[in-house]
This record gives sequence, C-alpha cells and structure tokens, in this order.
Amino acid sequence: MTRFSNSVANLRSSEIRDLMSLATAPNMISFAGGMPGNELFPLETIDTIYNSLTDKEKQVAMQYGPTTGLPNLLESLSDYLGAKGLPVKSNRLIITTGSLQAIHILAKAFLDPGDPVLVETPSFIGALSAFRAYQANLVTVPLNGDGLDIGQLKKRLENTSPKPKFLYYSPNFHNPAGIIYSEEVKRQMVDVLKDQEIPIIEDDVYSDLWFHEEDVPKMQLIKTMDPEGIDVCFTGSFSKILGPGLRLGWMLVPESIYRKCELIKQSIDACSPSISQVIADKFIREGHIHQYVAQVRDEYKRRGAAMIESLEACLPEYVTFEKPRGGFYTWLRLPEGADATEILKKAIEKGVVFVTGKTFDPDGIKNNHMRVSFCNTDVETIKRGIPLIAEAIRDILD
Ligand SMILES: Cc1ncc(COP(=O)(O)O)c(C=O)c1O
Repeated sequence: MTRFSNSVANLRSSEIRDLMSLATAPNMISFAGGMPGNELFPLETIDTIYNSLTDKEKQVAMQYGPTTGLPNLLESLSDYLGAKGLPVKSNRLIITTGSLQAIHILAKAFLDPGDPVLVETPSFIGALSAFRAYQANLVTVPLNGDGLDIGQLKKRLENTSPKPKFLYYSPNFHNPAGIIYSEEVKRQMVDVLKDQEIPIIEDDVYSDLWFHEEDVPKMQLIKTMDPEGIDVCFTGSFSKILGPGLRLGWMLVPESIYRKCELIKQSIDACSPSISQVIADKFIREGHIHQYVAQVRDEYKRRGAAMIESLEACLPEYVTFEKPRGGFYTWLRLPEGADATEILKKAIEKGVVFVTGKTFDPDGIKNNHMRVSFCNTDVETIKRGIPLIAEAIRDILD
C-alpha cells in the first residue's frame, strides 16, 4: 500500500467532477466554468507588449525573480490598487501564483490540523479545498442576499472552541452566490471581529467586473476601511481581468504576516512566473488595463442580461434567483429538498452543464441550488442553452 500523508488520505475526486468528465460531447454547452471567454483575451496587445520588450527585459522574463515579485510589477500594481483606495503604503504586497496560491499561503501561515476557520456557506470551492488541505475544521456561516448572517456569525463565535483562526469571505459578485455585500454587513463584521485576534481573508477577484456604476461606492472593501484591531489579508488576481493562464495573483497584508508569507512562498515555488509578471507590468504601466477591463465588463454585462432574459422567459416559477449585477455567476434557488445532481444528469443528456449547489456547501450536503455562469458562453449560446436547463429542471421537478 502506498502510504499517503494524513492530510491527503481523504482527498477524493468529487461525484460532480466524475459527472463532469462525462460531459465531453463535442457540442456540449457549458455554464459550468468560472473562466473568462477565450475570445475576449487581449491577444494583440499581449503580442505587441512581448514584441516590444528589449533583450534585457526578455532576460528578466526568463529568469527567476524575487520571491515577493518583480519590483516593476510591485510598483505598477501598487499604483493600480492604491488608486482604488487600498492601503498599499501601510501594508506589503506579494505577487503570488494566482490568488489561489495567496489563499493557500495564508492557510499554511495560520492553520494547524483541526483548527476551526469561519467560512461562508456557500463558498468558493478552491478556498474550501485549500483549507481542507491543511485539515481545517470548516465552521459555516450562512450567506444572505446582503452578505454573512451576522446573528449566526456571533453564534458561531460564541460556540466555537478553540477560537477560529480566521474568517474567509468574498465581498463582491460572490462565487457562487453572485451577491454584493452591503456596507452595513461589512461594518458589522468589523465590529464583531475587532480585537478578537481573528484575521479576515478578503478574497476579491471580481469587483472590477461591475455592470452598474452606481454599485461601485457600496463595494468598498474592508481592506480599504483599514479597520483598527483586525488584520485584514486582502487577495486579488489578474485571472478575471487579464487571463488566468498568466497564473498571477497577489496578497496585500500587514508587515508581520508578510514576513511569514514570504518564507512560505519561497519554499513552494521560489517566485511566480517572471514572464507573466513582465507582461502584466506593461499591461498596467502602458494603461491598457483600464480600457480592457471596460471592454470585458461591457461584454459580461451583455451576457448577464441575455442570461437574465432567458431565465425569466423559461424557468418554472418555483425557481428563483437574484439578477447578477456583475461578475460571472447566476445562483438559482430550487425548492427545498430538490436535488440539483439529478437535474445535472438530465441536463448532460440534453447537452448542457452547470455546477450543483452542494459543490459549494462546505458540508457537501445542501443541493437545492445551481450555479449557472455566463462568462464563457456568448449571447447566442446562452439563448440556446438556458431553455435546455429549464427543460431539465421541469423533467425532474414537475
Ligand atoms: C472567489 C475566487 N477566488 C479566487 C479564485 C482563484 O483565482 P486565481 O487563482 O486564478 O487567481 C477564484 C477563481 O475562480 C474565485 O472565484
């Protein structure tokens, strides 16, 4: 017998992953992924950036770099984040290999086996897997339409011993729930966690992708509030605003946490890809990022609108959803007790896939939701695919 470590012995491929591997028919319509549309990548700009690099810059791009990131990118990204009000002067920035690595590094920094951590239910599956990899005890706090249920958060804090090591949350265009946290809920979170020695990991990868400018002021991050008495570890990414293939994210953390994270990252991969960092730096520094983000925001808004229209036209009235106001996802609520896995099997027969609710439930149980993404399908495909989703729901639930 191969003797695996305790931390990986219980890792299993999920039922959903196995089902998805069946969904390989050539014309399968996928509402399952959380990735940008392939046709939206700024290929010409990337070509121009690469072709205009000097030999010296190309050498830097091919070489190892400092663990915390190439100085040029740290500078341009700092300016980009500083312009959004993030406290880049009083905190330290680390470039990571995707923001998932930032979450992993923070989990490694804080967790011993069995340690409780506070997570939203539903929650981003990648973060849950990271916390599980460090054998965390996931303590769930339900999510309402405006953010964490504060009453439940207080109860979990009273009833959890030892005290949770951190709280992980995602403020804007939540994956999978699609919601924006209200200012009130964020303020209450700060009040509840102040002076508790429970850091917040604030995972914000979608907030640039808003559809309605009037939402921007209320999307203020806890990190920009820079509250006293709480360590806020902010994580973000180029994945949704440039390309996940670069594998570049970041964390902005207080100095004391930065030191540990630097050492952890050094032991994992020494540095994030220099070639990606050189390109990302030019993309920001030459000002392409603002124009590109505005362009993809418009396209996702069109796709989101097409999805809302199709869902409203063909869903049975017992399926409800909040209209997405940005990001990549619509979160459909089925009647209590409905099983989204049965609907997924039927949907695959019809040539369309989505992700079931229990994938995002830290307890892996609650399954009366469906995450239907509109990021990687064009408007015409959305109009063809959503009626098939509605048919699959009716076949199982009517
Ligand atoms: C909420 C959230 N956080 C983090 C990530 C990780 O992104 P990356 O590692 O590509 O930066 C994702 C990707 O889907 C996500 O949805």
